[in-house]
Amino acid sequence: MSYKRTHDCGTLTAQNIGETVLLSGWVHRRRDHGGLIFIDLRDRFGLTQIVFHPEVAQDMHTLAGDLRSEWVIAVKGKVVARGEGMTNPKLKTGAVEIETSHLEILSKAKTPPFSICDENLNVNEELRLTYRYLDIRRGEIAERLVVRHKTMLAIRNHLDGHRFLEITTPILGKSTPEGARDYLVPSRIYPGTFFALPQSPQIFKQLLMISGMDRYFQIATCFRDEDLRSDRQPEFTQIDLEMSFGSQEELFPMIEEMMGGIFKQCIGVNIQGPFRQITFRDSMERYGTDKPDLRFGMELVRIDAIAKKSSFSVFLDQLQEGCVIKGICVKGGAEASRRIIDGYTQFVGHLGAKGLAWMKMQEGALVSNIVKFFDKAVQEELIAAFQAEEGDLLLFVASNENTTNMALDHLRRHIAKESGLIDKNRYEFAWITEFPLVHWDKDSQTYAAEHHPFTMPYLEDIPLLDSEPQKVRSSSYDLVLNGYELGSGSQRIHSGELQEKIFRMLKLSEEDIKKRFGFFIEALQYGTPPHLGIALGVDRIVMLLTHSESLRDVIAFPKTQRATDLMMDAPSEVLKEQLTELKIHVEPPEV
Ligand code: AMO
Ligand code: AMP
Repeated sequence: MSYKRTHDCGTLTAQNIGETVLLSGWVHRRRDHGGLIFIDLRDRFGLTQIVFHPEVAQDMHTLAGDLRSEWVIAVKGKVVARGEGMTNPKLKTGAVEIETSHLEILSKAKTPPFSICDENLNVNEELRLTYRYLDIRRGEIAERLVVRHKTMLAIRNHLDGHRFLEITTPILGKSTPEGARDYLVPSRIYPGTFFALPQSPQIFKQLLMISGMDRYFQIATCFRDEDLRSDRQPEFTQIDLEMSFGSQEELFPMIEEMMGGIFKQCIGVNIQGPFRQITFRDSMERYGTDKPDLRFGMELVRIDAIAKKSSFSVFLDQLQEGCVIKGICVKGGAEASRRIIDGYTQFVGHLGAKGLAWMKMQEGALVSNIVKFFDKAVQEELIAAFQAEEGDLLLFVASNENTTNMALDHLRRHIAKESGLIDKNRYEFAWITEFPLVHWDKDSQTYAAEHHPFTMPYLEDIPLLDSEPQKVRSSSYDLVLNGYELGSGSQRIHSGELQEKIFRMLKLSEEDIKKRFGFFIEALQYGTPPHLGIALGVDRIVMLLTHSESLRDVIAFPKTQRATDLMMDAPSEVLKEQLTELKIHVEPPEV
């Protein structure tokens, strides 16, 4: 029998009744019903019911008796209508079954370590990752990989339509500073020297603008050795792009349209631009974060000025120490018990806040253990600041600005999730703009680039570069969606002199600048067009499209939280000869 299929397992309907067909796939389930054997045959496209009648083909019926889950088979037979009351309206192929005349076993299967056909089975993730090929076979991950494919297709078609060229850049290169550690690859030919895997194609895409390629894009694999979280993988994919002679006014609508295309084509959702724009400062002030979830309100309100008029020593002491006081208003939250508020206090405590003050709006007045420290007029000011209404709960944190923002950002999202305020089918995009160019890095005691060192400062802020670098704004922007940073980009520096000045401000030594970026500074001096770009995390986009909990669920073969591949058992030791050839001596691990 030929293995050539006439149809896949998700296609046949009542319209095919009477046809002779050839199907191949995996045995999903097998049921023996008296004389009849039923098989659900599965492939990526669906399930088709196969029947073996002893009177149609006795030898095939006998052979079918041996079949076990996950064996791969080919069958030939006639499409017939299922018996009365036997149809399955949930399946596309649910009206028919195949009356088998031929069966061929193409390969047998060991019993899998977890059931492939039981969708509701909760399989431990380590086991799923060890047998990822079987996990994908279960269907859920496969569906997400289909969305991933559609996402990349939408991106490619969209950018091609805007005259972007897809250009591949090297994997073996030199370190590009994106703020993480590099993965290094030793050179055999030049022992003691290393390539760095790209943290992003940043320098290459800028060089392509200098080359005159005008518009570049790439679906680029990036490598970063950094602390992992559910939305971070050591190896991930960016849709990376760059354009010459453009501006934010041109880039933003083009990306908005691309996101619209992706959402429409992958999940049928209409996304309308223009996306709202929020400055970094505003975002920090109102949401305590630069990636706000805008699907619900409960904005942070600063009450320093009002608190100053109270006699509450906790607040007054904190203000004395240069701290800030901010709060949120939980609509209808006044019913929260002492225990619930204690829970919130513990929650912010883990984030470094030393306490959580509360007030409830009940019977037209504020009620709390601390209202006695607030005059009636001051209470009225608080009510107005939060637009508090009957039944609302106010929660306050007084701490340094970072801690206050972080604590209230987390608390705001925690309460919204807990009280069902989040509509999972809403997609609230925003551009965050006007980031600071640099921040003070306590560990290295130097200024560090907020985005990366190739970002253009605001021209009017350039005089501040020497005196107050932390006040310089940069022409950079993030695209955020529902509390996640989807992408990040900027207008680039296109003058060698300014680029050198920025490197110096970041306290790179002249020697370092020359060694690490000399080629790039030189390139900038051969006629560089003004250019800008962005990179969006493909994995994060697909994670949000598919409502997945983790990036691991949208990557075919992901790494664990501890940056390992459980299936291949990587990283692993290499042969002694390989090390000798590379002239690498490995110290035994410390115990
Ligand atoms: P950035 O470092 O902000 O910018 O990265 C851009 C986007 O890539 C995604 N991303 C990640 N996704 C999964 N795991 C990770 N470890 C990870 N790190 C980043 C995020 C992020 O928004 N070269 C610049 C872009 C530019 O300036 O054009 C860059 O890489 O979605
Ligand atoms: P205390 O005087 O320590 O009993 O605190 C009185 C109230 O102030 C309690 O409800 C505390 O949770 C709250 N509180 C204490 N420290 C802070 C802080 N840093 N920010 C907000 N509230 C606080």
